[in-house]
Amino acid sequence: MGTVVIGTGSYLPAKKLTNHDLEQMVDTSDEWISARTGIRERRIAGRGEEAYVLATRAAEKALEMAGLSAKDIDVLIVATISSHMLMPSCACLVQSELGLSKGFAFDVNAACSGFLYGLDIADKYVRADKNCKVLLVGAETLSSRIDWQDRNTCILFGDGAGAVVLAAGDSDRGILGSNLQSDGRLWQPLCMYGPQSTSSELYNDANPGSHILMEGSEVFKYAVKAMENAVLDLLEREKISLADIKLFIPHQANIRILNNLVDRLKIANDAVFINVAKYGNTSAASIPIALAEACQAGRITRGDHVLFCSFGGGFTWGASLVKW
Ligand code: ACO
Repeated sequence: MGTVVIGTGSYLPAKKLTNHDLEQMVDTSDEWISARTGIRERRIAGRGEEAYVLATRAAEKALEMAGLSAKDIDVLIVATISSHMLMPSCACLVQSELGLSKGFAFDVNAACSGFLYGLDIADKYVRADKNCKVLLVGAETLSSRIDWQDRNTCILFGDGAGAVVLAAGDSDRGILGSNLQSDGRLWQPLCMYGPQSTSSELYNDANPGSHILMEGSEVFKYAVKAMENAVLDLLEREKISLADIKLFIPHQANIRILNNLVDRLKIANDAVFINVAKYGNTSAASIPIALAEACQAGRITRGDHVLFCSFGGGFTWGASLVKW
């Protein structure tokens, strides 16, 4: 028995923020952003488009493709770092939006690696009970967690959601394995504080507000090597060669990280899915959005080996391998 993806879906807010729009907001240029990141525009959530709303829209599409309704879902997982509420979880809000009252729902916080962590958790639930159906969503409204005066970060991120439905399937297909890592000692180069403490004892002078803080070059250096190692270790463990990978879907961080990684791994460009120019970095949503687009574009067929990898705050990183 394998855990197979039986539905995919994505939802992006309609509003686009282009590099030229950003030129009006901070001291930057379309040339700088395009050359350093490959990003040309990103989507920005409008009024009423909180992370759980984007997540629900993506989930509805994934359920439709799976031929299921929300009441068929036993476990609902949302990977996010930008829900507008700390409690309840974003997943509980999605559960409510979907009108779902059975099973249980919870969030995963692993920053940009959240979707791959969620995939591994989902695999375990399905393997434990072959009747279990899991809805896994990556959803972010990072526009609400950006310092819009900070040109180092505000150019990079965007909003969106992607979802998959997972269920038991044929034994020769499904999630073959995951290689998940984190190193909490390295939290500082990429972090986001929560709300300031209401207790004077816990008041934190280091907390500048709840927005993304990043030392870009530190992240860059570590990210490429970590993802390369995660991929190579996983493929060695699963006895699959890079030449066997039909489609590589990396976390869409920025084009220079992706190009560096693809060069090191020596993967053919036409086996790599890249959409970062349209959406920027949507953190936990980036892989499921790309996966849904790849499916829709007919880039994946039954039996293909699909490889994912990610890197994000924590630091967290990893790779997952699926036989479609
Ligand atoms: N427009 C114009 N100039 C800028 C901008 C901007 N938006 N941002 C920074 N600069 C300036 C800097 O101030 C600096 O100027 P200075 O030399 O006068 O001090 C100069 O450009 C170079 O700055 P660096 O930070 O050294 O630029 P770098 O080449 O490292 O590129 C970038 C910055 C794109 C952030 C790069 O470090 C990077 O890609 N890092 C990875 C970060 C990332 O992707 N994070 C996402 C989250 S983690 C993940 O998803 C993997």
